[in-house]
Amino acid sequence: TVEHAAPMLSLDNAYSEEDLRAFHERVVKLLVAAGDGPPAVAYVAELKIDGLSIALTYEEGVLLRGVTRGDGVRGEDVTSNVRTIRAVPLTLKQAVPGRLEVRGEVYLPRASFDRVNQEREDADEPAFANPRNAAAGTMRSLDPAVVARRGLSAYMYQVVEGPGEGGTHTDTMRRLAGLGLPVEPHWRRCEGIDEVVAYCREWGDRRHTLGFDTDGVVIKVDDLDLRPRLGATNKFPRWATAYKFPAQQATTRLRAIEVNVGRTGAVTPYAVLEPVFLSGSTIQMATLHNEQDIARRDIRPGDLVVIEKGGDVIPKVVGPVLADRPADA
Ligand code: IVH
Repeated sequence: TVEHAAPMLSLDNAYSEEDLRAFHERVVKLLVAAGDGPPAVAYVAELKIDGLSIALTYEEGVLLRGVTRGDGVRGEDVTSNVRTIRAVPLTLKQAVPGRLEVRGEVYLPRASFDRVNQEREDADEPAFANPRNAAAGTMRSLDPAVVARRGLSAYMYQVVEGPGEGGTHTDTMRRLAGLGLPVEPHWRRCEGIDEVVAYCREWGDRRHTLGFDTDGVVIKVDDLDLRPRLGATNKFPRWATAYKFPAQQATTRLRAIEVNVGRTGAVTPYAVLEPVFLSGSTIQMATLHNEQDIARRDIRPGDLVVIEKGGDVIPKVVGPVLADRPADA
């Protein structure tokens, strides 16, 4: 394990337009309290990449080390695995004197995920539940040859600056790209919270056109000088938040409730559904936690049910549409 030069923090979440506006109000209030007058705050909105965070250190422009987030204070040295990721340059386009630490996300593109799971199925190995789990499992592998075959990729979004370096996050994104580091190209500078809200709406609809999984939008104050004034809690910076896209829902008929019996004898019910298309794939099965849960939500075979796809590939049954319940359900 390696200790991070500065802790790798997590992000607070926003789930609605109101949450986004409340985030903006907090930012403005803190800046006013810090004596900055009522400022016009510009943000950068970026897609939130559903992978695992990574810190890369370059020395004299040469990749020295790659470390996972770990608990935020100490991470795992995964340099030999990172070296196999084609998107991560071993040498920067311009030599940067001394040490440069950049941070971002390692992820498994959709196409690689589908291929890896197909291979695992063919080899009678358990499939990965989603690209994030697959990426995390791959980075834990002790064999860089395995990692190389999986087809991981990466996007960087942060430069760990020395104190008082200033500038904007917009500059940082351009600088990263200029150094030959991979940057997700759909980021946008937003002149105010209205533009941020518009970006979140737009990508809520467009997210499925991307070659990788995104579970939301990260919103960051663009002016780096404002960030230390806003500070951080012990978990999150106050200058950024993560907007989470609402889970995608669909309704379909519940044909039957069946059960899986695990190795230990534990019985897990699941829903057999009339096939329905939901955010990129056809769904025919969904999880139904346990018997008590089915009873509490009064889910019956024959019901029209609402299903939801969250972060996992396997969707869940939210509940029945009672107005549509057949008499014999
Ligand atoms: S900024 C200080 N930007 O989301 C906060 N994070 O839920 C630095 N993530 O731990 C993070 N895409 O691993 C940032 N464009 C993006 C991101 C992003 C994915 C991850 C990151 C973070 C987690 C928080």
